[in-house]
Amino acid sequence: MLHSENLTAERPTFVTHLECAYTGEHYPADTVHNLSRAGKPLLVRYDLEGVRKVLSKEALARRPADLWRYRELLPVRRTRDIVSLGEVMTPLVPLPKLAAPGGELIVKDEGRLPTGSFKARGLVMAVSMAKALGITHMAMPTNGNAGAALAAYASSAGIKTTIFCPEDTPEVNVSEIALQGATVYRVNGLIDDCGKIVGEGKAKVGWFDVSTLKEPYRIEGKKTMGLELAEQLGWDLPDVILYPTGGGTGLIGMWKAFAELEAIGFIGKKRPRMVAVQAAGCAPMVRAYEVGEEHAPRWENAHTIAAGIRVPQAVGDFLILRAVRESGGFAIAVDDEAITAALAEAARVEGFLMCPEGAATYAAYKQGLADGRIRRDERAVLFNCATGLKYPLPPIHRTLDRHKPIDFAAL
Ligand SMILES: Cc1ncc(COP(=O)(O)O)c(C=O)c1O
Repeated sequence: MLHSENLTAERPTFVTHLECAYTGEHYPADTVHNLSRAGKPLLVRYDLEGVRKVLSKEALARRPADLWRYRELLPVRRTRDIVSLGEVMTPLVPLPKLAAPGGELIVKDEGRLPTGSFKARGLVMAVSMAKALGITHMAMPTNGNAGAALAAYASSAGIKTTIFCPEDTPEVNVSEIALQGATVYRVNGLIDDCGKIVGEGKAKVGWFDVSTLKEPYRIEGKKTMGLELAEQLGWDLPDVILYPTGGGTGLIGMWKAFAELEAIGFIGKKRPRMVAVQAAGCAPMVRAYEVGEEHAPRWENAHTIAAGIRVPQAVGDFLILRAVRESGGFAIAVDDEAITAALAEAARVEGFLMCPEGAATYAAYKQGLADGRIRRDERAVLFNCATGLKYPLPPIHRTLDRHKPIDFAAL
């Protein structure tokens, strides 16, 4: 079946309202929103009884293998508003040689998505909804991948974008953003400093702020990681999910997905333990988790090679911590040395080139096995959220002079 068939079929939609994730206050759907009056994220709510009546696992199994197969659980109402670049279902790749003996280790490889990262899931939804709601200028702070996805989808939809990234963002990300039609600036600060500029632009010139969790739809897109994972595993969720956590949209989104799947009768009560993986140089969630706090204050002097998880402060902190705790999971920090070693090991042993953030989840798996928080016989899923090829790779200096005799036995 063609991907485009999901994009031509009109399907019933079930959005009832939006809800403040902190106070529970209701807001009308189908109008432009950022944060709630309490300054917290808004979550999309659905008539799940209605979805239960029209959607079966069998019908789902017959649809094309892309994100739009979950249309009844997504916010876009009209097919013509969908801005698609081909959001394929991403594969589950087993890593048998890296798994603990008797256990199972699987990577969900999000690097196959448009723009090479899972940010495509969130941004395809945010931009489709922006198109539906008539938004003409979107702005965003980014560590690279989210900006690239926003630029691509917004350009495709004919929406203007202004994007700000920390000054040390890899060249490939900045070029990609610019080539895909956005106006992009390097800023002498971190992602939350960039976020302040977006906030000011919103107040002064009316940009629509697409920062993580400051609009309601990126999380709905990221939620599809949980829907897909459940379906791919035959509606039997794994024991543990290790997620590289910056703003945490994916972790919160998957937790929401599992609740919705239970409400429509597709899964039971069983949940994976959600593990928030952070870098030792920027671990606000780990610190808050360990001291039992509901919120995570800003992490000063944040640094790590895993730029995507260099997020000193997250507006959805309480939602990340809530999901981690409710699931019986934990938050864990891994240092850059462990990330680099994990990346090299997965590439050498399994031929799987992860992004540094993905490699952080493998480093955390090993740490979890060592400290007993993950059992050897468990099924664990890692998220490799971007293709390893988007990142600066170490130079290789081995050369061969073809004009000299070659000692083949020594090669
Ligand atoms: C490759 C990569 N991994 C992980 C993350 C963190 O994602 P989230 O904001 O859902 O926590 C990002 C975000 O920039 C990223 O680019």
